Amino acid sequence: MKILVTGGLGYIGSHVTTLLLQNGMEVVVVDNLENTRIDVLDGIESITGKRPNFKQIDVCDSNQLKALFDEFSDIGGIIHFAAHKSVSESVNEPLKYYDNNLGGLQQLLKHALAKAVPFIFSSSCTVYGQSDTLPISENEPLKQATSPYGSTKKIGEQIIEDCCRANPDFNAILLRYFNPVGAHPSAKIGELPKGIPQNLVPYLTQTVKGIRPVLKVFGSSYNTPDGTCIRDYIHVMDLADAHIASLDYLLKNKNTSSCEVYNVGTGRGVSVLELIQTFEEATGEKVPYEFADPRPGDTVSAYADASKIEKIIGWKAKYSLEESLSSSWNWEKNLNS
Ligand code: WQD
Repeated sequence: MKILVTGGLGYIGSHVTTLLLQNGMEVVVVDNLENTRIDVLDGIESITGKRPNFKQIDVCDSNQLKALFDEFSDIGGIIHFAAHKSVSESVNEPLKYYDNNLGGLQQLLKHALAKAVPFIFSSSCTVYGQSDTLPISENEPLKQATSPYGSTKKIGEQIIEDCCRANPDFNAILLRYFNPVGAHPSAKIGELPKGIPQNLVPYLTQTVKGIRPVLKVFGSSYNTPDGTCIRDYIHVMDLADAHIASLDYLLKNKNTSSCEVYNVGTGRGVSVLELIQTFEEATGEKVPYEFADPRPGDTVSAYADASKIEKIIGWKAKYSLEESLSSSWNWEKNLNS
C-alpha cells in the first residue's frame, strides 16, 4: 500500500513525507514545484536514505491525476497539502485561490471516493477568524473567514464533510494547524518562503542573517499583556507527527464513515515580543526589530485547545518553542539562498 502526499515537497509536506518513510511507509509525492524546489527530494533522501516516488503534476489537472491513480493503483491513504497559501495574495487574487485550492481538492476527492481511500486535509486555524473564546476549541463557531485563503479552507472542510456524509465507507480527518514554525533537526529540509516572507519566523531569521534590514513588529498596542499579537507556534516536526498519528487512526478505522476536525497546536499562546526574546535566548543572536502599524486582517490572539486530538488520536506536541526557533535558525544558516 502507498500513501499519496500532494504538495509533498512543500514545507509541511516534506516533513510528513520524511516521517512516513522513516515509519516504513511507501510514499508517492506529487508536487507542481510552483512553491518549492526539486532538491527538497534530495534533502528527504539524505535524512531517510530513501527516495519517494515523485511525479511533477498539478492536482487540478484531471488527466494527470487519472494517470497517477492508474499507475499507482495501491494508494491506500491520501494526505492533501497541495494548495496556494498566501493570505495576502489571496486577497488580491481570490479566483486564483478558489480555482486552485477548491478545484484541486475536488479532483482529488473523485479518486479518493472511487476507492474509499482515507483522506487527511490540511486546514488552518484561520477558519476561526478572531475567536470569542480562548483557547480555541473545535466547537468554536466559525466566523467569516478573514481572507479568500481562509475561505478555501472553510469551504474545503465543508466539501469533505458532505462527501463523508454521502459515502458511508469514506473517512477523513481535517487538521486545523495553528502556526507552523521550525525545521527538521538535520537542517536538511525546512521552510522555503518565496520572495519576501509573509510569516514572522522566516522574516525574523532572514533579518538576523542580514537578508532583511529590520523585522517590523506589526502593532504594539493590542489588548494583550505586552501589546503584541499572540499565536500558537508549533514545531513542524510536531505537526508532521500529528499527520502520522491521524493516518494510523484512519487506517485502523477504515470504512467507518467519519469526518473529524482536530486542532493541531501546542495550546500555548506566545506574543511576538516573547517569540523574539525566546529566539535571542535560544540562539544567542540579536533580532533587530522596530514597531510598525498593525497588519490589516490580523487576529489579536489565537491559540489552540488541543485536548481533542490528544484524547482521541493520542497526539500531543512535544517540542519547546526554544527548540522550534533554534531549528529555524539552523535551517536559515544552512540555506544557500
Ligand atoms: C504571526 C504574527 C503578525 C510578520 C498565517 C496564516 C495561517 C497560517 C500561518 C497557513 C502576527 C506578526 C508577522 C512580520 C510581524 N498559514 N508578524 N512581522 O498571520 O498568524 O497566520 O500563517 O496555513 O493560515 O493566516 O502568521 O507568521 O504571518 O504572523 O509582526 O514581519 O506575527 O502580525 O501577529 P499568521 P504570521
